[in-house]
Amino acid sequence: MLIRVALSIALAALLSASGRAQTVPAAAPASAPAPTWAVPDPDTLPDDAFGRTVRRGRDLIVKTSSLIGPDAPDPTMRYSGNGLDCQSCHLQAGTQRFGLPLAGIWGVFPLYIARENEVRTLEERINGCMERSMNGRALPVGGSEMKAMLSYIKFISSAERVGKPLDGRGAPPLPLPEKAGDPRHGLEVFTATCAACHGADGQGQRLAPAAAKDAGRRYLFPPLWGPDSFNDGAGMARGITAAQFVHANMPLGTTFEAPALSVSDAFDVVAYVGAQPRPHKSGLEADFPDRSRKPVDATYPPFIGPFSAEQHRLGPWPPIQAWMKANGAAARSAD
Ligand code: HEC
Ligand code: HEC
Repeated sequence: MLIRVALSIALAALLSASGRAQTVPAAAPASAPAPTWAVPDPDTLPDDAFGRTVRRGRDLIVKTSSLIGPDAPDPTMRYSGNGLDCQSCHLQAGTQRFGLPLAGIWGVFPLYIARENEVRTLEERINGCMERSMNGRALPVGGSEMKAMLSYIKFISSAERVGKPLDGRGAPPLPLPEKAGDPRHGLEVFTATCAACHGADGQGQRLAPAAAKDAGRRYLFPPLWGPDSFNDGAGMARGITAAQFVHANMPLGTTFEAPALSVSDAFDVVAYVGAQPRPHKSGLEADFPDRSRKPVDATYPPFIGPFSAEQHRLGPWPPIQAWMKANGAAARSAD
């Protein structure tokens, strides 16, 4: 029943050309109090250079695989390396509260990013997802695709005031379990709750060629692992990040206000998904040059502290966090 309702919501969302959440007119005065969660609608913009660029940015987020991915007609335009679209994770074209929104983040960057241990621009952050979530290569920073994505993100962020803490960013934090995630129970959760859309083999549901061409997307339901999914350096490959996303947003149609899974089922299903094969990104040992800032759920070495790789992958994470708190600063100065 749950699955049926979710499926029809999912299909409605996917088949609407742009997939947008609640919208407000673009011309809301900047001084008005920001509504709780409302995202300006690119379709209200005129058919001029900026309007067209913003809408192209939206297309690049929704139809990444066909515009700058493996299905792009021009091979030199194939920057993204898998069958996903940005929207596969940044739900509803990046307009969904706690669905890893892109709305609002215009005012958040440049920002310190621990992965590179430096302040990074929004362009660099987008390219982080290009190289990891999309298992591809960086877009040229001054190119028309990057400009279009930035224009779209700026436009959908315009209901937020720059410098104000951003409501609805990322996915909501979860209490971390005191036990390790259980991939065996995770398989049961997967079979009961995820396989209907993502497939028993996790490879998603690929659209037939004609439908894919129409939609500009390769998948109706994206693959969770395997060659056409994100690589092992992606944020979604981390247990805590993935559990937060899944708990707040999956099955598709779920919102953070009414999660479908228990917290422990979310961690277990992510433990199962995390144990499956996916593309490998080389050079991951160079991530998080300040090791004391490496997230406790990063799955790849080097690790500091006495914990096994398995514990970093599956938890329990609270003991690692406690150790880091007590020893992180010392580890930093010893480096
Ligand atoms: C497989 C899932 C996935 C896909 C596909 C994906 N991303 Fe991301 N993205 C994430 C996750 C997870 C985060 C948060 C990472 C973290 O917690 O470190 C993120 C973060 C971001 C951020 C920073 C958001 C913030 O709140 O700081 C931007 C910008 C971004 N992604 C852009 C993109 C763009 C553009 C694309 C397509 C080219 C894309 N992403 C594709 C998973 C994905
Ligand atoms: C009703 C169908 C449906 C169900 C059931 C469902 N999902 Fe999804 N899921 C989707 C769709 C569709 C997307 C991509 C959203 C888009 O492209 O607009 C997605 C995206 C994802 C993503 C990010 C993209 C990727 O390919 O990795 C993850 C992770 C994910 N789902 C995990 C799960 C898990 C775990 C479950 C079970 C608890 C689940 N989903 C159940 C439809 C579903």
